[in-house]
Amino acid sequence: MDKRTSTGTAIGKIILIGEHAVVYGEPAIALPFPATKIKTTIYERKGPVLLNCLFHQGLLTDAPKKLFGLISTIEKIVESIGKRLYDFSIDIESSIPPERGMGSSAAVAVATLRALYDYFQIPLTREDLVSWSNISEKIVHGNPSGIDAAIIIDEKPLYYIKGSPPVPLDFKLDAYLILGDTGEASQTKTTVAHVKRLMDTDPEKYGPLLKKLGLLTERTKISIENRNPKNLGQIMSNAHHILDQLGVSNKILNKLVTVAIENGALGGKLTGGGGGGCMIALASSEKEANLISNNLLSNGAKNTWIYNMGVGFHGR
Ligand code: PMV
Repeated sequence: MDKRTSTGTAIGKIILIGEHAVVYGEPAIALPFPATKIKTTIYERKGPVLLNCLFHQGLLTDAPKKLFGLISTIEKIVESIGKRLYDFSIDIESSIPPERGMGSSAAVAVATLRALYDYFQIPLTREDLVSWSNISEKIVHGNPSGIDAAIIIDEKPLYYIKGSPPVPLDFKLDAYLILGDTGEASQTKTTVAHVKRLMDTDPEKYGPLLKKLGLLTERTKISIENRNPKNLGQIMSNAHHILDQLGVSNKILNKLVTVAIENGALGGKLTGGGGGGCMIALASSEKEANLISNNLLSNGAKNTWIYNMGVGFHGR
C-alpha cells in the first residue's frame, strides 16, 4: 500500500568559491543555505499525475520545457520502482528563488526524490539521491560538476572536487555573509556552455584562469581553517575578477559587488553560474552587513539575506 501523503524537503545552497572551475576538476567550496527551502508533497488522488508548482499547474505530462529535467527524472524513478504515473499528485512549494544560482533545480530534485521514495515506502540511500539528482541536473545544466547535488544532500559546508567524495569543512568565522539577488535569471546551462566554448577555442588563455580559481579555493580553505575573514574577503574579490574575465559576470553583478565593497565589505563576488542570479559579500560585523544589505537594495538588488558565519553552518 502506498502512503496517502508524503513530504520531502531540501534547502538552498551558496557556492563560496570555485564555480565554473569545478566543472574542469578544480576544487570548490559550497555552503548550505537553510534560509531558503523546497517542500514537495505527494498525495493520493485518482487519475493522471498533476503537478502544482511555480511554473506549472496541471497535468504532469503538460509541464513546460523548463521542467523537463525534473519531469523526466520523476518518470524514470517511478518506472524503476515498478509503479505507474497515476493516482498521485505532486505539490512543490519553494522559497528558493529559481534560476539564481541558489541551487533551486537540485533542491527541487532532492525534495521530490525524498517525497516520492517515502510515498512508495522505498528506502532511499545517499547513493540513490546522488545519482538521481545528477541525472536531473544533467538535463537542466548539460554538464554539472555535481557540487549542487552534493551540498543540498549533505547540508554541510563542503570542499568538493568532481568525482571525489565531498569533504566536510569545519566552518565557523567571525563574519557575516550577505547574499544579494539581482532579480535577473542566471542560466547556468548558458554560462557553463560559454566557458566550454572558451576552453575549446583557447585553452592556453582560459585554462590558467580556471587553475587560478582552483588555487583561490585552496587559499579559501586555509583562510577558513585560520578563521581569517579579511583574507577570505580579498580572495572572494580576486575570484570575482577572474569570473568577470571569463565573461560569466554582468553589469548588475559587477555593480552590486562594487556597492558592497564601497560600503565596507571585506570582499565580494558572484555566486553560482552567473550571467545574473546572485552575488555574495563578506562583512566583519552585523552592523556593516546591514549597511551593505541596505545599499545593495537601494542599488538594484531585489532581495538580500544575511548569514551569521559565527554560529557555524548546519542544515535545518
Ligand atoms: O547551479 P548554479 O548556478 O549554482 O551553478 C553551479 C556551479 C557551476 O560551477 C557553474 C556549474 C557546476 O555544475 O558546477
